[in-house]
Amino acid sequence: LRRWHIRPEAQDVIAILQPAAECLRTKDTPVAFPTETVYGLGADATRSGSVRGIYSAKGRPSDNPLIVHVADLDMLRHLLGPDNHDDDGENCIPARYLSVIEKFWPGPLTILLPIPEPSPLAPEVTAGLRTFGVRMPSSALALTLIKLAGVPLAAPSANASTKPSPTSAQHVKDDLEGRIELILDGGACDVGVESTVVDGLNEPPVVLRPGGISLEELRGCRGWENVVKAYKDQSEEGQTAPRAPGMKYKHYSPRARVVLYESKCMLGQDGLVAADADAAAAAATTTSVNGDGPSTNVGLPKRVGVIRTRRWKPAAGLRCDDLRVTENQDEEVAEPLLRLHTGRLRNREGDDVGELFDLDLGEDAKGIAQGLFSALRALDRRQVDIIFVDGIDDELDIAAAVMNRLRKAASDIRA
Ligand code: TXA
Ligand code: MG
Repeated sequence: LRRWHIRPEAQDVIAILQPAAECLRTKDTPVAFPTETVYGLGADATRSGSVRGIYSAKGRPSDNPLIVHVADLDMLRHLLGPDNHDDDGENCIPARYLSVIEKFWPGPLTILLPIPEPSPLAPEVTAGLRTFGVRMPSSALALTLIKLAGVPLAAPSANASTKPSPTSAQHVKDDLEGRIELILDGGACDVGVESTVVDGLNEPPVVLRPGGISLEELRGCRGWENVVKAYKDQSEEGQTAPRAPGMKYKHYSPRARVVLYESKCMLGQDGLVAADADAAAAAATTTSVNGDGPSTNVGLPKRVGVIRTRRWKPAAGLRCDDLRVTENQDEEVAEPLLRLHTGRLRNREGDDVGELFDLDLGEDAKGIAQGLFSALRALDRRQVDIIFVDGIDDELDIAAAVMNRLRKAASDIRA
């Protein structure tokens, strides 16, 4: 596995990327590359062989459609083809999209368009749907790569299927070593969660996946004043059924069980409660670490991970009155943006009951989004049995995407 480090300010970026672009054009092995959201696993979207290479590297079900990445609007128009031009010779990108394209491209917004007839896209890209998702990433490296390749790149997130998306080249390597040949390493991703997927062909327009562009930002655009959520979150059971096919698969899952605390969900006496019954059971198990619980309780977590946002109330999650942390020491994680504290867990009697790995993502939603997947992965590497995560208020901005990913990570549907 080759890993090429690329600094965006380097003079010779084009020379470095040229062989990668050549590989994308001519071979069937996908190339991992950074975007501003997460790392993508790219292949020529017009060739079936190359697109199949993505599915096999990821171990991804092939009925889950891929996002097509373009370098500029000309590339998109070319994709839509001459038959899709109206009398003015203009492309026929549906009018509703013009305002959001103008505002958010290049950037973390994926739009759905009807698949053109005839279609230059490999059928494997769209998994039998009548629409395809497309976006223009803002990462200079990604844009340059697509431009040099000269073809649109189909690219899902470059994680192994079901794992949290990769926000660094190391994450890609951890998941796909032995399955791909080349990673372009452009450092940590800026946004940290995936693009917002919208369907503007629907009336009203809908958000299929929350991401880097918020609902409020979309609402500010002409034609998008009435945009509504069409994704299902754990906390909103009974709402509109999920529309993005990706939603039916287990996603964003570290190996450990994730217990998410939602401050919105005021069921517990502490004012915070686990996101669902299963998580509550897991939390109860942990509470019994203090020795009061039935001794028949098996599988007590010995290695506990905590992801804090500053809204965390310590009394609610780990019952800090029962469990004390000692020998606290700081450790830089081999991840940008993260600092890990490690310590022993002791119960009231002072018995050593396990090890604690504690990460703080800060209280700023943007920073939380940037570090979220890294945090889940960092704790997995430490082989924790359980991860307690403090939820955040998801009403605004990128927090909606953060909570969406966390709810999926905390749900118990195994793929
Ligand atoms: O930020 C991103 O979007 C990253 C980077 C690499 O660009 N890509 C990404 O791709 O997250 P992926 O494959 O992990 O997720 C694509 C999402 C899935 O939820 C999929 O179901 C949805 O987009 N999607 C793609 N095409 C669709 C379509 N035609 N209709 C409905 N949903 C679609
Ligand atoms: Mg993905």
